Amino acid sequence: MLQIWEPAENHLKEAARALKAGRLVALPTETVYGLGADATNDGAVARIFEAKGRPHFNPLIVHVKDRVAAEEHALFDARAKKLADAFWPGALTLVLPRRNDCKLSLLVSAGLPTVALRVPAHPLAQKLLAEADCPIAAPSANRSGKLSPTLASHVAASLADASALVAGVLDGGPCTVGLESTVIGLPEGGPATLLRPGGIARADIEKVLGEKLAEAEAAEGKAGRSSPGQLASHYAPNAPLRLNAQDVTEAETLIAFGPTPLEGAAHTFNLSESGDLTEAAANLFRLLQEADEAAKGAPIAVMPIPGEGLGEAINDRLRRAAAPRG
Ligand code: TXA
Ligand code: MG
Repeated sequence: MLQIWEPAENHLKEAARALKAGRLVALPTETVYGLGADATNDGAVARIFEAKGRPHFNPLIVHVKDRVAAEEHALFDARAKKLADAFWPGALTLVLPRRNDCKLSLLVSAGLPTVALRVPAHPLAQKLLAEADCPIAAPSANRSGKLSPTLASHVAASLADASALVAGVLDGGPCTVGLESTVIGLPEGGPATLLRPGGIARADIEKVLGEKLAEAEAAEGKAGRSSPGQLASHYAPNAPLRLNAQDVTEAETLIAFGPTPLEGAAHTFNLSESGDLTEAAANLFRLLQEADEAAKGAPIAVMPIPGEGLGEAINDRLRRAAAPRG
């Protein structure tokens, strides 16, 4: 069973300390409870996926205290400023281009050049953001495939098996919105797009924007992808990827896993020298980018990754990265 913390000062401090130490903390927001981690810490973010038991990496929402804090991480155009000023704090998430100097873990973006940002209105979420003084990555605090929790007791029941990873659940009472945030994509040079309906109605957003929202499916259809969500989470390196490599040539760049990397590659990057799958997940998107830069278009060989635990999500992502481009 997970520890449930009553909302007292000492518990807030304990929760903030846990976050800073790279542990997970479940926190109330006005929409649903979130499973939070320090969004700048790759290892902590990887543990979110471990605790949720997700078979693949979805990009996560990063919670910050206000628009000024959000602007440290992403580029706000005029539309983004208008929506933030109208709906923050509140149940609106904006997907925006990451700044070049963005310090957030690449895992929160699942390797994409964008990041989802939200300013929560719940007073306890705001207090925790102030006390921990870091951006908090938080998907809904349930096991993968289960309902989003709106009570601390739901979280404790849903994540009971993950008690080694989750320091505790801050109890902020029932969530008032009870529905996840509305997610709006604002691509540079592209139309404002409804990526997920949620706690704020489409019409209210369109009124502030002064234009209709594009549909996520239509946008993805144009790009030739079949199912929603695929596009958002697809990171394709420039170099061709060869998976489950048993050998490597001197023309190739190697992404290794474990204590005995194959020898003879032009460049070698190791996802985890100790063979730890959570560490490998934390390093995955950063190493894919670094290997891609080093390879300069020459092939990348990837050693086999075991399929258990986060290995399933890692292999899913590698298969997508290796898939033929259309
Ligand atoms: O109300 C909420 O939004 C809750 C509370 C805890 O804030 N959080 C939540 O997070 O529902 P999650 O991870 O369960 O949902 C995140 C949604 C997903 O639909 C994901 O695909 C989308 O946001 N998303 C996040 N980053 C994205 C990105 N860079 N591009 C496209 N979609 C993104
Ligand atoms: Mg969810």
